[in-house]
Amino acid sequence: MEKKDIQKMISEIEKENSIFSKKANLETLSFPPKIIGRQDKAKELVRILLSHRQGFVVPYVSVYGRSGCGKSTVVRYVCQNIDDIEFCFVNLRRAKTVFGCANLILAELGKQNLKSAQGINLAVDEIGKTISETLDGTKKNLFVLVLDELDVLFYDKRGRPSDFVYKLIILEEKLKEKNHLLCIIGITNNVLSEYDLDERVRSRIGSSEIFFEAYSKKDVLSILQDRAKNSFAKPVDNAVLEYCAKISSSEHGDARRAIDLLRVGAEIASLKNEPLSVIHIDSASLHLQKDRVQQILSTGSFHFKLVASALARITFLSDNDWHATSSIFKQYGMILNKDEKPLGYRRVSEILVDIANSGIAVSNTSSKGRGGYGTQYKLTVSPEMIGKTCFAEWWAGVEKRKKEHEIEKKDLKTKKQLHVGPSRHLKNLDNILENLYEKSWSDFSGLDK
Ligand SMILES: Nc1ncnc2c1ncn2[C@@H]1O[C@H](COP(=O)(O)OP(=O)(O)OP(=O)(O)O)[C@@H](O)[C@H]1O
Ligand SMILES: [Mg+2]
Repeated sequence: MEKKDIQKMISEIEKENSIFSKKANLETLSFPPKIIGRQDKAKELVRILLSHRQGFVVPYVSVYGRSGCGKSTVVRYVCQNIDDIEFCFVNLRRAKTVFGCANLILAELGKQNLKSAQGINLAVDEIGKTISETLDGTKKNLFVLVLDELDVLFYDKRGRPSDFVYKLIILEEKLKEKNHLLCIIGITNNVLSEYDLDERVRSRIGSSEIFFEAYSKKDVLSILQDRAKNSFAKPVDNAVLEYCAKISSSEHGDARRAIDLLRVGAEIASLKNEPLSVIHIDSASLHLQKDRVQQILSTGSFHFKLVASALARITFLSDNDWHATSSIFKQYGMILNKDEKPLGYRRVSEILVDIANSGIAVSNTSSKGRGGYGTQYKLTVSPEMIGKTCFAEWWAGVEKRKKEHEIEKKDLKTKKQLHVGPSRHLKNLDNILENLYEKSWSDFSGLDK
């Protein structure tokens, strides 16, 4: 390779990028150039925080809603723009333990990390001391501690997350002695009361909740139109923006997904030297879905992959999309290698909740009358994508089996149509047809770690 080769690459890539006038506007990791709508949610939060001027503020606000619906963006923007409060915004995504969360808060407050041997009490004391010093220094009386992606905390069951939340909330009571106010805003995908919290916490957090509904297709379109205006060299066809809005609102309105679709679609179009069209958005959708599924599954445990594969297998083999926890559990037991110890029903149910939270499936809980409640799950991505990503070789076997099975089924049906013998034989054929899928479920050897 010579320098001129690099020069050639540069001019080719420059040409590819010429579709954009300011690609940074299509970035979804940093703060958006402009917030579209959501005034109602911002006002709810301003109302809660402003009550500090009357000397009172609720200790905890639960901000919740599905992914990409503007929670982090709106909360940050409100906090940045109320002049008489101090705030600290901490994203806990990187923390793996409760103590890790405490250290991330300390780091964001400008303090040194502690060793876990020093204990969580010392960490919480340090947090309280720093907040108090900050308020003394700035002569303000309210400190807002925003804990974004607080869901992470509850993955560390051994670290006693509920206890940590309790300690943070009673910090508020200690700070009040010095006329300082503290309000914690927790941002999660589900309302905080659904998480494993003990009564001491529940009774203190009260019911200050702000729910961010998913964006409608119209909302997503407005966000896209605003972004596209300042990002492309030439105006983008409105039909393309509408298509992005439609795809990203089909499950739940996700602005992040819509903007990513538009950006990746434009990249694909420019690589092919074609004007951006819905075809490129379709390719972008598949590309992003694969990336997301891969990322989720690569960080999941072996049993997480097994449970996801169990759901993928029954979805692939049956004509139904929705499957009950009990059927998935049964299927999980079948695909597990016989030497492996299976997890219990409860643990598998918890994994299914994690799978739904990750976004690769959705759940639906309904009453079964006296039988209590039953939850069903449906994949949001194709079963092939899950199977191939988790256990490619095994999945090839599942596909082969399905093909054989279709042939067997066709044969049996023809036999049945031609059959003129005694009716008990006909009944037998019916049973065989009905049990084919069941039979094929148990006819393979199981998966190794
Ligand atoms: N109302 C809006 N106006 C402009 N851009 C928006 C709006 N809402 C969301 N976005 C864009 O969508 C992306 C996702 O928004 P945000 O991070 O606030 O979502 P979230 O609800 O916190 O999602 P998650 O639960 O995944 O953290 C951001 O990059 C932001 O640029
Ligand atoms: Mg967020």
